[in-house]
Amino acid sequence: MRIGVPRELRNGETRVALTPESVKRLIALARPKDADPGAPSPLQIDVEPGAGDRASFDDAQYQDAGARIADGAEAVWRESDLVVCVNPPAPAQASLMREGAALLGSLRSTGEPELIETLRSRRISAMAFEAIPRITRAQKVDVLSSMATIAGYRAVLHGALACPKIFPMLMTAAGTVTASRVLILGAGVAGLQAIATAKRLGAVVEAYDVRAAAAEQVESLGARFLRLEDPGAETDAETAGGYARELTPEEQAAQRERLARHIAQADVVITTAQVPGRAAPRLIDRATTERMRPGAVIVDMAAESGGNCELTRAGERVEHNGVVILGPVNLPAETPVHASIMHSRNAAAFIADMIKDGELRIDMEDEVVRGAMITHDGEIVHNPTREAMGLPKWEKESTA
Ligand code: NAI
Repeated sequence: MRIGVPRELRNGETRVALTPESVKRLIALARPKDADPGAPSPLQIDVEPGAGDRASFDDAQYQDAGARIADGAEAVWRESDLVVCVNPPAPAQASLMREGAALLGSLRSTGEPELIETLRSRRISAMAFEAIPRITRAQKVDVLSSMATIAGYRAVLHGALACPKIFPMLMTAAGTVTASRVLILGAGVAGLQAIATAKRLGAVVEAYDVRAAAAEQVESLGARFLRLEDPGAETDAETAGGYARELTPEEQAAQRERLARHIAQADVVITTAQVPGRAAPRLIDRATTERMRPGAVIVDMAAESGGNCELTRAGERVEHNGVVILGPVNLPAETPVHASIMHSRNAAAFIADMIKDGELRIDMEDEVVRGAMITHDGEIVHNPTREAMGLPKWEKESTA
């Protein structure tokens, strides 16, 4: 059995899907239990030259871990039984894969129609991390949470660096400096890590989420959870899957109005609000930005899905009336070592559960594998985000 690890092609990408640590672990795990530890493993891992360079894992480290450095990029795609990647491959790469091979990575299954069609027609078993059900058993393979954790941490650092104040309260010979106020909007995985990071830096932290369950988690980190005064605005917007639902236009308007006062007082606002399959909810409009103090900073972590702030431009720094609005993209790639290590451990845990007797066995009865599967055996199996929206699995189905 052969697993391939390509070099990521996305602009600005620095992560690698599997690190040498996981390569070593998987090769050992595939060896039959009664085999001599020195015996060859039935698993061969082929790494594209330079695949881990930008994450500080060089080819020699992969070789030491037991991997083979492949003969160029094409060989990885053509010859692997399973390709493990961070980002969705280009359709041209996917079309190099041999029929019936498997692919594991974040495939952005709703936004890549041409890729999904290529994978379907090549009969690829394509498994997407973002489609894995968020059940307890799947926590060890939860790449979304790992990357959100890194991104939440990183977003606070952006906010702190752009802020003209320091975060902690200091009592010095020059007198007392008050702590900065940081407001986190959206307290999911990224938001909770942002709260923890801002607290460690000494800021006074407040947070808000439409899911009532978030309150306890926010408070356990020592931050204040904003309970918006009007009881009518406190309707819990958590779905059965644990995600937020989209608010009605009336709820959105009421929310914006109530949040505006808190936003106006903040030195740094970190926004993380997302609703699966939808554009990011708009939490900060232009008028609210204009109520903020000059020097205040907004870090919009939803920049890539439309932005939580009206003035955000993805990948850019915007200044409006002295307020700085940052729309960073691909924050995990700014911390390539730990982002790759976490990605790799999640991916390796997923693969380890599929290796039986040194071979890859795809068990469609397994809830996690079936949940992740986007295309299999020439069919589009699953498109969870579209299904959650009540849409056909695939755009083409509606026109077929
Ligand atoms: P996400 O990235 O989809 O959204 C981020 C946050 O934005 C969420 O907390 C959401 O409630 C919030 N949000 C959405 N609309 C909003 C609005 N209008 N105003 C304010 N906040 C808004 O969510 P993420 O971080 O992926 O987590 C989703 C849920 O899944 C959470 O409850 C999390 O605890 C849970 N989870 C469960 C896991 C498990 O294994 N059981 C693993 C990881 C997450």
